[in-house]
Amino acid sequence: MKKVKTGKKTTALSTRAVAAQVILQVLDQGKSLSALLPEVQTQIKAQDLPLLQEICFGICRVLPRLEQIIRKLVDKSLKGKTRIAHCLLLVGLYQLLYTRVPAHAAVDEAVNATKALKVESFRSLINAVLRRFLREQETVLAEVDKHWQTLHPEWLVNQFKAAYSNWREIVEANNQKPPMWLRVNQRHCTTENYQQLLAQHDIESFKADNPQALRLAQAVAVSNLPNFDSGWVTVQDLHAQWSALLLEPQDNDLILDACAAPGGKTTHILECAPNARVVALDVEESRLKRVHENLARMKQTAQVICADAAHPDDWLKQINVESAVGFDRILLDAPCSATGVIRRHPDIKWLRQEADIAPLVELQAKILTALWEKLKPNGVLLYATCSLLPYENSLQIQRFLQQTPNAELMLLPFQTDKSAVGFQFVPSPLGGDGFYYAKLRKTEILK
Ligand SMILES: C[S@@+](CC[C@H](N)C(=O)[O-])C[C@H]1O[C@@H](n2cnc3c(N)ncnc32)[C@H](O)[C@@H]1O
Repeated sequence: MKKVKTGKKTTALSTRAVAAQVILQVLDQGKSLSALLPEVQTQIKAQDLPLLQEICFGICRVLPRLEQIIRKLVDKSLKGKTRIAHCLLLVGLYQLLYTRVPAHAAVDEAVNATKALKVESFRSLINAVLRRFLREQETVLAEVDKHWQTLHPEWLVNQFKAAYSNWREIVEANNQKPPMWLRVNQRHCTTENYQQLLAQHDIESFKADNPQALRLAQAVAVSNLPNFDSGWVTVQDLHAQWSALLLEPQDNDLILDACAAPGGKTTHILECAPNARVVALDVEESRLKRVHENLARMKQTAQVICADAAHPDDWLKQINVESAVGFDRILLDAPCSATGVIRRHPDIKWLRQEADIAPLVELQAKILTALWEKLKPNGVLLYATCSLLPYENSLQIQRFLQQTPNAELMLLPFQTDKSAVGFQFVPSPLGGDGFYYAKLRKTEILK
């Protein structure tokens, strides 16, 4: 545990102090929870990690509601160096409203955290605000909850409104905690048999329309999943599980997983076709460590390389593939706005800006065009994103099809609207995340 020196005494950072620091860095420095939480977890006791996660993810999920409450209770906004005190108020309020932490503990812990965070002068303010909230909760909440709140930034809601008639359902689904989905490795056992195995361990699960997927009634630690370490199952969202099934990898195929890290889809490709030659590529060296770990757990082999998918001529020699030969199949799980996985990463709502979308669309187009050149005639490219925005999805593919005479759009098995360009999954409370797929075939003769 990290200690903070305050005068002569050394004070251990409490879970609430760490939570406030994390929230400050998300909101004011644009850092993500998935980058911050692994960094700070050594600062607290292992048993407090679930509470830290609950507070940090929870605050990001409901931030506008908490901010409104603070505006009602605090006359002057806490800016600049005092922002950490504002974050402590968020931490305190979140616990009072959304957790079973006893009210006195939530208040006391927030008040005490002022010392380690060097804002002791705010001790009485934090105490007074949280206690006033407890006294006036009913009236405050009646006002704050008078109108339905999206809990999303306005620009994003506008994008959803423009694209979906059921945008309210999407917004509601984004604001809920997602279910935990498993992908059963059919090399080890059938989905039905693994469901029975789970039941023997008192873990309740449900089947879905994806043949390899099981939804758990309650999330569990992976260490409690039978044979997890031996690669019998992988934690992966229901809709993400369609990638490898739609790609239809075959043994002996040369397959590129172009944006592979952390490797959830790479391992699925190899489960489907253990004798395929898979190249798993990602531009972020640090993220490739997880690809190696996942392959090792599944006892699979792939060629893992750190490179930029937009410049294949720079790395094709490295993997001993002649430019002229090309890949049989390419999975392009493109870098995207991640607006389809907000329920898993609620900080995206505050990290992502409207101005980020156009450069992402441009990057996706660049990678897609560059990789298309490296696909064999008759080869298949599956374009996927975890985005809900048409610019990154159907409009991206529509433009590509217009510009690429030897690209043909293939129908997806669950696609009922045959005129649609690809298929857009939207998030739903007991279903999967927001995901988009378009399957393209390279025709031999230019159309
Ligand atoms: C949606 S994530 C991939 C998730 C992964 N396919 C899985 O299922 O586990 C997108 C990935 O694209 C990578 N990426 C971004 N730009 C890239 C580029 N120019 N070349 C290769 N990878 C890139 C990011 O580092 C990130 O790991």
